Amino acid sequence: MLYLITRILCNGRKSCIVKILLSIFLIYISLAIATKGRKIHEAFTDPLFNYKSEDVTFNYDALSTTSEFTSEYTEYHGYCVRPFLIRGDEPESNRITLALHGSTSALDLEYITLLMSNWRAPISFAIYLHELENNPASVKDMFLSAMANLTDPEATRLVNVHVLFAKYRNLSCEDTVALRDANLPEYDNSTAYFARYPINVVRNVARTYILTQYQAMADIDFLFSERFEEKMRRIADQVISVNPKAALVYRIFEIDENEIEIRNATINKTDLRELVHADRARTFHGKNWWPGHGIPELQKWLEEPEKEYPGIFNSKLSQKRRRFWEPQVIVNRNIPKFDETFPYRHGNNIELRWEMCRAGYELQLVEDLFVYHRIVTESHRDVQTVKDSITVDNYYRYRRAVIEFKQRMARMYPRTRQLCPI
Ligand SMILES: *[C@@H]1O[C@H](CO)[C@@H](O)[C@H](O)[C@H]1NC(C)=O
Ligand SMILES: *[C@@H]1O[C@H](CO)[C@@H](O)[C@H](O)[C@H]1NC(C)=O
Ligand SMILES: *[C@@H]1O[C@H](CO)[C@@H](O)[C@H](O)[C@H]1NC(C)=O
Ligand SMILES: *[C@@H]1O[C@H](CO)[C@@H](O)[C@H](O)[C@H]1NC(C)=O
Ligand SMILES: *[C@@H]1O[C@H](CO)[C@@H](O)[C@H](O)[C@H]1NC(C)=O
Repeated sequence: MLYLITRILCNGRKSCIVKILLSIFLIYISLAIATKGRKIHEAFTDPLFNYKSEDVTFNYDALSTTSEFTSEYTEYHGYCVRPFLIRGDEPESNRITLALHGSTSALDLEYITLLMSNWRAPISFAIYLHELENNPASVKDMFLSAMANLTDPEATRLVNVHVLFAKYRNLSCEDTVALRDANLPEYDNSTAYFARYPINVVRNVARTYILTQYQAMADIDFLFSERFEEKMRRIADQVISVNPKAALVYRIFEIDENEIEIRNATINKTDLRELVHADRARTFHGKNWWPGHGIPELQKWLEEPEKEYPGIFNSKLSQKRRRFWEPQVIVNRNIPKFDETFPYRHGNNIELRWEMCRAGYELQLVEDLFVYHRIVTESHRDVQTVKDSITVDNYYRYRRAVIEFKQRMARMYPRTRQLCPI
């Protein structure tokens, strides 16, 4: 083919062939650059991601007011938030609240209730209403009936649920709800919709209504090791109360679904050790993605006998050369907010680790305690395909977010660049 073209255009002259190939190459490069430029420009002008993350720390002086029950909507960055749709008992302040995020388009009540009976401690759960198709009252009913199924009162006693949805243009939140009632839009489950799940807005809403001193952050498909919160808050009281910038790191594993079920999702380190030896458990994504979740000295940590009162295993974990590490942490509730310019499925969790490093937080690995995922089975492949296409959609939003993030880091924490991955 190429030979034919060159015969026709160049009479077989070699210099001419080189010129043609060079031109094709240059055209290709220019088109690639132009496309990229356009997409980055689009990402920068995307109104859904136009929030500038200057207000980056929580102001907990204002918190006393949010602790009251309120039936009013609060506006936050273009969203209507209805805090404490479900209100649990007041927790003691030295407990750990689990901040959770979710969307009504993918709300798995089976996972959620399992997590509640596994965690048995305060929860602040923010739920994003999928466009306008769900109203707060139906979410509330759905949750209450799922929670009523749990026989252990400690599983649900300290659960708080908040909802939020996108405000429609310049309408008030009440009018946005009225519009929804009058004009129920089609259910949109396209990848474009999922790509716009404002994940870090939802996480920040969950964190805003934390009523305790310490927090954990998780996805709803996480499960924690036996008596996690009870044991962890003793460590937090010893370490974080003295050094508010300590971040207690715990390991993350993946465990065979059947093994979890057999044990009623009650697994301690002694069980874990057995499961690892039997090859039914391993570091989360450790086979393909050790940089993301691997933590050194796994063998030593695992083989040490399990304690009734675990403490710190290693107080000097460095993030410096580990840009892709996403450590799981227990921290003070007033750590920086999640940066809301990061899109779904691209850097939206890890950016907080980068910022905590720049802000001087110290990672200290705890003994014995851990979190785990179910090992993903074949049947989840479809979901993975949708997620992969979201990843592509959001790539340029991510590029933009990183550029702005670096500028903000340089402004806010100019002195810690050398110690951190970004
Ligand atoms: C409550 O439990 C029953 C039986 O286990 C189950 O069929 C039902 O779907 C559960 N309800 C909710 C709302 O989860
Ligand atoms: C909303 O905007 C429209 C036009 O853009 C205007 O006519 C209307 O008065 C505005 N409503 C409010 C409540 O500001
Ligand atoms: C969206 O939902 C419809 C009906 O439930 C289904 O047929 C379609 O495959 C779904 N699309 C995606 C992208 O999941
Ligand atoms: C799991 O729960 C079932 C039913 O509640 C109970 O019969 C069983 O003994 C439990 N298993 C373990 C390992 O705790
Ligand atoms: C861990 O769990 C097993 C069974 O699930 C139990 O026999 C053992 O005593 C537990 N160990 C500790 C240290 O809690």
